[in-house]
Amino acid sequence: MEVIIRSSREEAEKMTAALLIRAVKSKPDCVLGLATGRTMEAVYAEVARLHREKEVDFSQVCTFNLDEYIGLAPDHPNSYRYYMQEKLFKHINIDPQRTYLPDGLSKDVKQEGPHYEALIRYRGGIDLQLLGIGEDGHIGFNEPLSSFTSRTRDVTLTPETVAQNSPQFERPEDMPRRAFTMGVGTILEARRILMLVTGKAKARVLAAAVEGPMAAMVPASALQLHQNTVIIADADAAGELRMQEYYRWVLENDPRWQDFR
Ligand code: F6R
Repeated sequence: MEVIIRSSREEAEKMTAALLIRAVKSKPDCVLGLATGRTMEAVYAEVARLHREKEVDFSQVCTFNLDEYIGLAPDHPNSYRYYMQEKLFKHINIDPQRTYLPDGLSKDVKQEGPHYEALIRYRGGIDLQLLGIGEDGHIGFNEPLSSFTSRTRDVTLTPETVAQNSPQFERPEDMPRRAFTMGVGTILEARRILMLVTGKAKARVLAAAVEGPMAAMVPASALQLHQNTVIIADADAAGELRMQEYYRWVLENDPRWQDFR
């Protein structure tokens, strides 16, 4: 994988948005894998701005989100469907029929995963998957000990994830303990992966994922198996990486990144 270090959080967010827009421009009917969470809020605001200013067309784009809470209706303010609608979908010209999230109210919890995977296949597979990382190393809601070959399924969230996300609920105790998530194996099938990591709180887990041994205890370390992964980190999140000098050198010297120097 490649690591890009930006000096500020804002620059990291802008670069992530620019790469997403670049993917849409080079393939107008691309399939995007999307993430939610605080990290992505500014990215989606920037994507919406670029859509308006540069008239980027999303009408043929298809999206699959990583995860959804089990038990929350699409119009629940803490559902990921609601988040996507508010932060991104309503600001761009995407066709709602082409936006997919697992169904938090699915009647058949064990069938929801295979059904979601069939939809991903039907749309041709994910071209670019956007990822954040949890403080416990999760990607999507693949918590520590998730198999690297896991598929989309229902999972129980860890106390760490509940602590990380429950403050966003009006009553923190109402946060669901279960969720649907794409599997680690599903994520690894994306043709390209773009992970954004910002803030000091993520520095330790980022170093473990990128430079530590691959281990199911750090699900994000599975990205070391992927051939086309770029991680964008701000200086705070990159603070514990041992190869920082080298990552900065690559950004300065690799022609692929010349627009971002
Ligand atoms: C959300 C998701 C999660 C988040 C992670 C980081 O769809 O897949 O893995 O990316 O929990 O969350 P924030 O950005 O809130 O720190």
